[in-house]
Amino acid sequence: MRNVVLIGFMGTGKTSTGKMLAAKLGAAFIDMDQKIEEEAGMSIPDMFARKGEAYFREQERALVKRLAARRNAVISTGGGTVKNPDNVADFKKSGVIVCLSASVDAVLARTNRRGTRPVLDSADQGDRRKAVEQLMAERRELYKQADFTIDTSELSPLQVVENIVRFL
Ligand code: S3P
Repeated sequence: MRNVVLIGFMGTGKTSTGKMLAAKLGAAFIDMDQKIEEEAGMSIPDMFARKGEAYFREQERALVKRLAARRNAVISTGGGTVKNPDNVADFKKSGVIVCLSASVDAVLARTNRRGTRPVLDSADQGDRRKAVEQLMAERRELYKQADFTIDTSELSPLQVVENIVRFL
């Protein structure tokens, strides 16, 4: 099986959907952020604080290279993995790219806890809605590189999985 790579903004459900999709397909599940955290022995927010975003992006890039060399996996990326065009190119070669999208309201509801999303925390400046809107707008074109996009705002994780399976 070719890999199924889930891309999309923070809070669109990449991790929960990826887990269920992998179980349904009988494929391995890999969550990139979790893997980076395990290998570094520190959380993503800690990594941003102690080493900086550029260091995190290097770890992300190195992991994409390894993952694109394998098959039979459902891979949940981080919301910013698509910022590096090489990451998108590598994933395109190794499988199908599915983008999960969601409304600003849904993203806000799912990412309102400070301290878990350093990119949003630093862009926030007291107005989290504005930070989400701006970052989403900046990244909109990047997420369009997917082979298929599904809006998860009003769907349960199971419905999202069913939609993806129908597409594959
Ligand atoms: C990021 C999204 C996060 C994580 C890191 C940076 C981003 O992943 O990779 O905090 O730049 O959008 P999730 O999309 O799983 O929250």
